[in-house]
Amino acid sequence: MSLNPHPTLLAYHSIGLLLDWGPISEQSRQTKEGDDMKGLKKKLWMKLPRPAKNVLKTARAVVKDINSRKLRAELFGGDECFVPKLVQMRDGPQDYHVFKASGLSHFETLKKSGLSPDSTVLDVGCGIGRKTLPLLHYLSQEARYDGIDTDAESVLWLKRRIEPRFPNFHFSDVSVHNGKYNAGATVSAANYRFPFDDGIYDFVIADAIFTNMLGDETRNYIHEMARVLKPGGRLLSSYFLTDSQTSTLIREGRSAVPLLHPLGVCLVAEKDHPNEAVGIDADFVFRCHSEVGLNIVERGFGTWSGRADQGNYLDVIVASKPMGVKEGNLE
Ligand SMILES: C[S@@+](CC[C@H](N)C(=O)[O-])C[C@H]1O[C@@H](n2cnc3c(N)ncnc32)[C@H](O)[C@@H]1O
Repeated sequence: MSLNPHPTLLAYHSIGLLLDWGPISEQSRQTKEGDDMKGLKKKLWMKLPRPAKNVLKTARAVVKDINSRKLRAELFGGDECFVPKLVQMRDGPQDYHVFKASGLSHFETLKKSGLSPDSTVLDVGCGIGRKTLPLLHYLSQEARYDGIDTDAESVLWLKRRIEPRFPNFHFSDVSVHNGKYNAGATVSAANYRFPFDDGIYDFVIADAIFTNMLGDETRNYIHEMARVLKPGGRLLSSYFLTDSQTSTLIREGRSAVPLLHPLGVCLVAEKDHPNEAVGIDADFVFRCHSEVGLNIVERGFGTWSGRADQGNYLDVIVASKPMGVKEGNLE
């Protein structure tokens, strides 16, 4: 089958792929023919312009939402009102099972790292609240949760839904530039100061945000996260960490993310849209931690690079701030 198809064919297959109708039947998915078709459709999808992809993603989510009412109620029960619709999950998998599982698995990691019901938590890049949901009934009235994100729409939704019922949960829209998520903002993430005092959080989490941030932006955010952590507090963050082994896997096409273009300390998937997917040199990230006195206590390889075959998709770093680090003097 030609891989330079007529635009009409391209649109037809892409719509079919997204809306889950069209030439891939459940039966053909299991066969070699189904695999070929999936490969072709993936290539067609890559060729679509970004606005067309967004329209198709939205259309699929709307259709899935209409069919998922019962599932939502089954999965989330009385907490359903704190769960966004699939159409609001503009980023990441548009899937209620994944939404629930991803929040729960992150929650388990936090508990293993010492989260208690009275902990103070900052969620940097909280998105549409995947990691928030399991904390709603876990954190006590004495605890505090802050979520910040550049996505004003998601933040507003979380504010309206969660803050009135859980007054110790707060969400803020931060108007910081990100080429993928907030291209119109002028404040650079490389200089941004979080709107929080020094040393107030037991936990800072930053999941799947550095995969869309460049070197100097990541460095400043690690410094800021260290600043707002209490001595003894923990930072949990995730990345596409690159080193010689991942570079080989990427070149051999064994990584899920084609980070082929060097950009400073980063490797990016799209030269013209660097924030779309960013891998970052592992040694650089370790240095950013040590510059502000953070000790890395755990590091897990993700499956994204093809290095690990199970576990988290992203590479995860857990770091702790020593008890002796002086507040406000981290750089
Ligand atoms: C891939 S999503 C991850 C969301 C959430 N952490 C999760 O795990 O579901 C990345 C999020 O980071 C946010 N983001 C990107 N750059 C940011 C920045 N400089 N400051 C705060 N949030 C940012 C985006 O708006 C987006 O919601």
